[in-house]
Amino acid sequence: MLPAKAQPIAETGPLSNWSQVRSLFNLEPGTVHMSAMLLASHPAPVRAAIARHRRALDADPVDYLEAHGPRLTEASREAAANYLGTHLSRVALTESTTMGVGLVYTSLQLRPDQEVLTTDEDYYVTHVSLEQAAQRTGAAVRKTALFDRPDAVSADQIVERITSSIRPETRLLALTWVHSSTGVKIPVREIAAALNEINADRGEDDHVLFGLDAVHGFGVETESFADTGADFLMAGCHKWLFGPRGTGVAAISERGLAATRPTIPSFDESEVFSAWYMRREPRGGNNGRRMTPGGFKAFEHRWALTDAFEFHDMLGRSRVASRTHELAGALKEALADIDRIDVRTPRDSALSSGIVAFAVEGMSSAEMVSRLRDRHIVASVAPYPSALVRLTPSIINSSAEIDRAARAVRDSL
Ligand SMILES: Cc1ncc(COP(=O)(O)O)c(C=O)c1O
Repeated sequence: MLPAKAQPIAETGPLSNWSQVRSLFNLEPGTVHMSAMLLASHPAPVRAAIARHRRALDADPVDYLEAHGPRLTEASREAAANYLGTHLSRVALTESTTMGVGLVYTSLQLRPDQEVLTTDEDYYVTHVSLEQAAQRTGAAVRKTALFDRPDAVSADQIVERITSSIRPETRLLALTWVHSSTGVKIPVREIAAALNEINADRGEDDHVLFGLDAVHGFGVETESFADTGADFLMAGCHKWLFGPRGTGVAAISERGLAATRPTIPSFDESEVFSAWYMRREPRGGNNGRRMTPGGFKAFEHRWALTDAFEFHDMLGRSRVASRTHELAGALKEALADIDRIDVRTPRDSALSSGIVAFAVEGMSSAEMVSRLRDRHIVASVAPYPSALVRLTPSIINSSAEIDRAARAVRDSL
């Protein structure tokens, strides 16, 4: 038997009040946690769901898994598909953004005469996955620069840089929705529209496919999978969505599924297992279940994903987006008024999201982050050569915390 579900959160407090939302997290009080871009603290409904599944697994792992596992896993897939506005057959469940990016890019069928295109601004995970895909297939990797200065970027400039970099042999464009180096949010819809024009003159096997590390937009921005125009959208659920740690999703378009082959045997689709058992070829084509890496999981986390999406829906997607943008905007304004602080994230909310990145004149970023920690402000240094300081306001923060963080930056100089 399934244990009773946790109480719907709407009954425990008015979610229109952000301080009530914050009270659902067991975060250390007194500290300003501007860390949603790294690793989530679990809100009460996610903690309750994990505890419920863990208790049942600890009592009888085999019975609970056999009796409820397939249904609970499909419920998580369906919740992710609903969030993304896509069909559940296009959704693979992963354990992180990194797993999704690595899996998808190394699963892509590439010819040695093809190339994959990415940018200097993309993250380690994209760059290394593409290198690994190239080593397997003989395809080339090329990088282009998206802009000269992040704080002076425009959507047109980004689209122009991309379209002028695409060559006849480009098979994949691999980008990041919101850059964790600078906080720049790229205009995904415009990029996808430009790719559609380019693809109109190409055969299907030579279409430029669009891959997106979406982790810093996922759980903040309001676009559906289709709105982004991506063929591959990979995101961890353990950052801005405040989902269970060790969970992620990859959404894949029909033509993306046709262009990839699963890498890790799936446990989510009985057809592949039956085919192996019967010693025949699997029927049907590739799909999100087949792309989901198999093996036994930290199931209590995977199954609590449903509750994380439910919590997000109860908060309201556009409310979360506007709250995050409002706080990030206020932080950028406050930081811009401080001497020696050079805010690199665009002010324009169309070109930014929740990440606020800045440089400090005459001080290393590591030193600033350490001084902020002494003042109980959790910031981080971007793991990129430019190594900017990042503060990332989210739904767990208040306006008072924005002021406190900005004051702490000033006092740390
Ligand atoms: C752009 C980007 N992609 C991927 C990751 C890694 O995410 P995950 O922990 O979900 O693998 C990070 C940072 O943690 C990131 O900044």
